[in-house]
Amino acid sequence: MQPFDLLLSDIRELVTVDPVRATQDNPLGRIANAAIGMRDGLVAWIGEQISLPGDSFTSAKEILSAHGAVVMPGLVDSHTHLVFGGTREQEFARRLAGVPYMQIAQEGGGINATVRQTRASSLDELVGRGAAWAREMLTFGVTTVESKSGYGLDTKTELKQLSALEQVAQLVPVDIVPTFLGAHEFPTEYRERRDAYVDLVIGEMLPAVAEQGIAKICDVFCEEGVFSIDQTRRILIKARDLGLGLRFHADEFVYTGGAELAVALGALAADHLTAITDDGIAALSGSDVCACVLPGTSYYLGHGHYAPARKLLDAGATLVVASDFNPGSCVIHNLAMVAGIAVTQMKLTLEEIIPAVTRNAAKSLGLQSVGYLAKGMQADLQILDIPKPEYLIYHQGRNHVATVIKRGQVVWTSSSPKVFI
Ligand code: NIG
Ligand code: FE
Repeated sequence: MQPFDLLLSDIRELVTVDPVRATQDNPLGRIANAAIGMRDGLVAWIGEQISLPGDSFTSAKEILSAHGAVVMPGLVDSHTHLVFGGTREQEFARRLAGVPYMQIAQEGGGINATVRQTRASSLDELVGRGAAWAREMLTFGVTTVESKSGYGLDTKTELKQLSALEQVAQLVPVDIVPTFLGAHEFPTEYRERRDAYVDLVIGEMLPAVAEQGIAKICDVFCEEGVFSIDQTRRILIKARDLGLGLRFHADEFVYTGGAELAVALGALAADHLTAITDDGIAALSGSDVCACVLPGTSYYLGHGHYAPARKLLDAGATLVVASDFNPGSCVIHNLAMVAGIAVTQMKLTLEEIIPAVTRNAAKSLGLQSVGYLAKGMQADLQILDIPKPEYLIYHQGRNHVATVIKRGQVVWTSSSPKVFI
């Protein structure tokens, strides 16, 4: 056998999340006393250390001992708004004083406030800040990030945001999945001409985005007072014709049938779902469309309504949990923290939350090479300073990540003192 580029040994417990290893008694495909051999950025060997091919330790180019730590796949944050100009602390203060999020939006604040600041930002400013947030996400164990445009709302600025994402991906060792969200809100100049804005998205923005090959997915904020079901359908059909994957903000504040539309269009996922109905749950559960819930947003908006994740799971839906990091409704870029909110507020188990932020999240982005650890998969993983996997959701608010490995290379190591390794 060819030597490994990197051999990670002495793993007390390896949580593979590999569907092939999953059994009723071991749904996360856990392996005790494990090792992983990596070559060319991929997992070349994975299993119990005792079964490693004989010369592995002598031939490996590099050996890293996990010192008895827990190892799991890098997290996949499948719904973020990473690149934006400015900040909105004043709006946050108004919201804490009781003004609803949608009222602020109707007054020209909210998303449109960030649009003004994003239009005024240079490409370099957007790249600099986006890269800073992405680097910090990496320290929380996140190795793949989806990010949307949506704070330009004109062709030029939407493309500027998407090129900023391209540059962030060059600067930070995180895979970025770019999503076009030109239909995030109606820009102030189109407030009275809403259909004309939808025509602009369909007739100008989407073709420009597709021509540059600068986005993989198309998203829409489908919501009462924002894009209607019909407008959403028109935009997404055009996007699908241009070869983009689909997923969109559906049934967040008011039920509009977004989940059902996602199923009808064969979307990758429907996101938010706080106001989904039993019919919507049945539609998602009987389909291949992932149900992506964003509990950080419910928590941050403080309205106390969480998406019915428990019901979605019990009905058989593929559950995804993402951060929704954005400058208005969820200024939290730590997916591990959001996973903690998910387990306490939505009553999820370890066996439910881990796939929701790894394997299922990758599926919701149409990614086949990340999300779990098995031979041939990308070697994206995290070494955790915890005594057992259950500790991950038990002790919240601490960054348990000791080391992050991306494509087979150590890209971040914590300088905090270790407790368990
Ligand atoms: O995903 N729901 C709509 N869009 C964002 C919020 C964006 C903002 O307030 O800037 C979201 O929650
Ligand atoms: Fe969002």
